[in-house]
Amino acid sequence: MNQAREHWGSRLGFILAASGSAVGIGNIWKYPHMAGQNGGAAFTLIYLICILVVGLSIVIGEFALGRKTQLSPVGAYLAIAPGSLWKWVGFLGVGSAFVILSFYGVVGGWIMNYSFLSLKGDFSQLTGNPEAASALFNSFITSTWAPLFWQLLFMMICIYVIVNGVKGGIEKWSKIMMPTIIVILVILAIRGLTLPNGMTSLTFLFKPKFEDLSASAVVLALGHSFFTLSLGMGTMITYGSYLKRNENLLNSALWVIGLDTIIALLAGVAIFSTVFALGADPAEGAGLIFVVLPSVFPQLPGGQIWGTLFFVILFMAALTSAISILEVVTAYFIDQKGWTRIRSTILFGGIITVVGIFCSLSLGGNLNITWFLGMSFFDFMDYLSSKYMLPIGGMLMAIFIIKRWSVNEFVKELHTGMNSTKISSQLVTILLSIGALVVGFIILNEIFDKLLGFPIIG
Ligand code: PFF
Repeated sequence: MNQAREHWGSRLGFILAASGSAVGIGNIWKYPHMAGQNGGAAFTLIYLICILVVGLSIVIGEFALGRKTQLSPVGAYLAIAPGSLWKWVGFLGVGSAFVILSFYGVVGGWIMNYSFLSLKGDFSQLTGNPEAASALFNSFITSTWAPLFWQLLFMMICIYVIVNGVKGGIEKWSKIMMPTIIVILVILAIRGLTLPNGMTSLTFLFKPKFEDLSASAVVLALGHSFFTLSLGMGTMITYGSYLKRNENLLNSALWVIGLDTIIALLAGVAIFSTVFALGADPAEGAGLIFVVLPSVFPQLPGGQIWGTLFFVILFMAALTSAISILEVVTAYFIDQKGWTRIRSTILFGGIITVVGIFCSLSLGGNLNITWFLGMSFFDFMDYLSSKYMLPIGGMLMAIFIIKRWSVNEFVKELHTGMNSTKISSQLVTILLSIGALVVGFIILNEIFDKLLGFPIIG
């Protein structure tokens, strides 16, 4: 506890680490399909508005809270509101980290397995045959040992990075992996667009189709803007707590949001140009990544290389997000309990891995756990965190800034590290209030939809 706090080695390192947290599986398997199905550029426009109005103020809020207190979520809330119940918002963040990383680690393992399968040339048996690809994927995820082996490997890498600390672990690896992701995605996008018919993807993704833009698409865009920026569980509070006071928070937040959005768009172009060029059907989520793509890549000249590159960058995107989730838990035990980094990371990384084992086995591997709402334990953990825990955490943080910390104090913190820009407290209050209201509405809508059977919108 009395050790000096670690700080980022450079501004670039911080921006790459924070955008590494934001850029993850969500960008590559959620955004492109959502956009394609819900109005193309019309959806992207709404998504960008949501990110700028709701996302930006909450990213900055988290950075400021972390930098001001130099503590991870629980400590940060306690430092500003000692003895109050606000610390429970911090605990909600630590809890969300447990929930998210348990299933995220399983998917990380699947991605590693698929990188390896592609490298070995095993996708060649799936050429143009999505049924065979689907059978392979289903038999893999519902088996007992193979997914556990890969999940364990993924979690061990994650633990290794976090044990090495902020500068020597998170920053070092983000500085290697983020530029690699961008360069390879650009290459994959150019490869896809230069295929005959590859340009069709641009119409699918970017042609504004306002007739497809329903009210539920707007709700979807709002919810996703939250997940994709890793908001609501204190990841950005924790990363902000390793900042020195001379950082320009607004500028950094704009970089993180910009990189997250550009990478989502690039992923959309890379994936759909290839899928359309080869006449495959665009699917969503796991089906797109683990079924459609493995049957499409081998049809390309050099497909083994393109497929491997794709899965390797997906692995990197998943890893830079997973480490940010584990860091929230590790930082809590370092900051609040005075534990060593190595002890907290190994113990809690281990516990999360064990919860993840149940997620994996719930998909069929001998332990068919059906949790409530008719979902597997795996789907339930995903649902619980992305539809409730993250939005509630983000909404409460916005309320905390307005009601407890005070917008003036928050704006004072923002001005530290900024040269001349002056931010208006009124504008900040309006943006944070819109953020809290909108997110509150999304949560209510979900409760109506899932628990009462009819959504307010959608
Ligand atoms: N932003 C990540 C993605 O888009 O995949 C997911 C995520 C990471 C959510 C970290 C929350 C978090 F704290």
